[in-house]
Amino acid sequence: MKTVIISNRLPVKIIEENDEYTFIPSEGGLATGLGDVYKTGNAIWVGWPGIEVPLERQEEVKQKLAQLNLYPVFLTQNEINLYYEGFSNEVLWPVFHYLVTYAHYEQSYWDCYKSVNEKFAKSAMQVLNHRDKIWIQDYQLLLLPGILRQKLISATIGFFQHIPFPSYEIFRLIPWREEILNGLIGADLIGFHTYDDVRHFLSTATRLLPIHSSSNILSSNERQIVVEAFPMGIDFEKFSNLAQTHEVKKEMDYFRSGKDEVKIILSIDRLDYSKGILERLKALELLLQMHPEYIGKVALFMIVVPSRDTVQQYSDLRDQIDQFVGNLNARYRSMDWIPVNYFYRSFPIEMLSALYSSADICLVTPMRDGMNLVSKEYVASRNNEDGVLILSEMAGASKELTDALLVNPNNLGDIMEAIVVALQMPLEEQQRRMIAMRAIVEKFNVKHWVNNFILRLNEVKDSQKSLLTK
Ligand code: G6P
Repeated sequence: MKTVIISNRLPVKIIEENDEYTFIPSEGGLATGLGDVYKTGNAIWVGWPGIEVPLERQEEVKQKLAQLNLYPVFLTQNEINLYYEGFSNEVLWPVFHYLVTYAHYEQSYWDCYKSVNEKFAKSAMQVLNHRDKIWIQDYQLLLLPGILRQKLISATIGFFQHIPFPSYEIFRLIPWREEILNGLIGADLIGFHTYDDVRHFLSTATRLLPIHSSSNILSSNERQIVVEAFPMGIDFEKFSNLAQTHEVKKEMDYFRSGKDEVKIILSIDRLDYSKGILERLKALELLLQMHPEYIGKVALFMIVVPSRDTVQQYSDLRDQIDQFVGNLNARYRSMDWIPVNYFYRSFPIEMLSALYSSADICLVTPMRDGMNLVSKEYVASRNNEDGVLILSEMAGASKELTDALLVNPNNLGDIMEAIVVALQMPLEEQQRRMIAMRAIVEKFNVKHWVNNFILRLNEVKDSQKSLLTK
């Protein structure tokens, strides 16, 4: 009996250079969070390898991935356009992040979303045994639990969503809302990061479908579906240990040299309009305007990891960031200081660790975020127990990291004031807050998250069986 993880993206993606395929780690919370853990158990991971692979090279890719216990689902360019860029990232992503004006409700997107979910089911059936545990991940595969339930009536199916679940008033805007919910309730256990997401899902499901709920259990056609919060964690030890390595310390020395007088503010995100990147830059501009005493004394290191830039709204955002940073730097820079050190690229983990370890402040201000693992990675990297985390109230992580300076990401004045408080915070207060947050991130780490979900899935299945035999 094994665990079969199914997600849109595999934890590795293919990069093609001169006709050669190489595999590199994928970006984003899902891949980084689960990427290491699945290797430790008896598990196989089914998903898309990130590019269109021509028919004649699919066998080669399949064999290479098999060595890593990965099983590919190949998507055509048309499917990538309509299912991934279209329905997943131009309908579900904006609506679930409450940015409904960004949504494009195209019938062709929906039709393709349905057929690709069927395709994933077909691929998964190649590796599935009826006694396996199936664990489906995220919003790209909302119909998959229902499709697999029809094929394997008594299968054990868990589903976890890594992004927020919106309130009923927002979700009901989607033209295909009932079909989506009917797909999801094919699972035995449905997990979200926060209790608020659970509440929204339960009220949405009971208002749109002919089912009822008692506490956190939905009942539909003799089946029971349990809905619960499982806040995702990170590999605390990995980040804490990495920060102590010789390599990272060398990077830090290089990085901090000549900046003794400058406080470093760090910001790391995938390119995404939900991350509040422009708002963060505007808050920095406000700080330099309202508190000129900090000119030359603070520097923002802003890493934006390229993502989904074939979707128009993402490439527009990239242009806007380029423009804003160029403008701000041109107005405020001096010969030996620059307010925003902007990088539009991904970095190896050792470099990220050096940045986390060097930064006096980590500024994480998404407009909305399912969890946000960057905030936890910063905390885990702070072995000296100093540093200040400024965190958006709209990130799931804010429910756990209550010792961060919590801000409303729409309130630029609020963010600016939090930066000032952070810049002036005495070391003892930094330590008091950081110690409390480190204890939480260490205890509720990613292994805890995986074990907790799987344990609950087993319990739910067992209680269903005993219900049937009564
Ligand atoms: C978020 C989503 C993941 C997704 C990741 C990267 O973390 O929850 O499902 O994989 O972003 O986005 P991408 O579209 O590149 O897979």
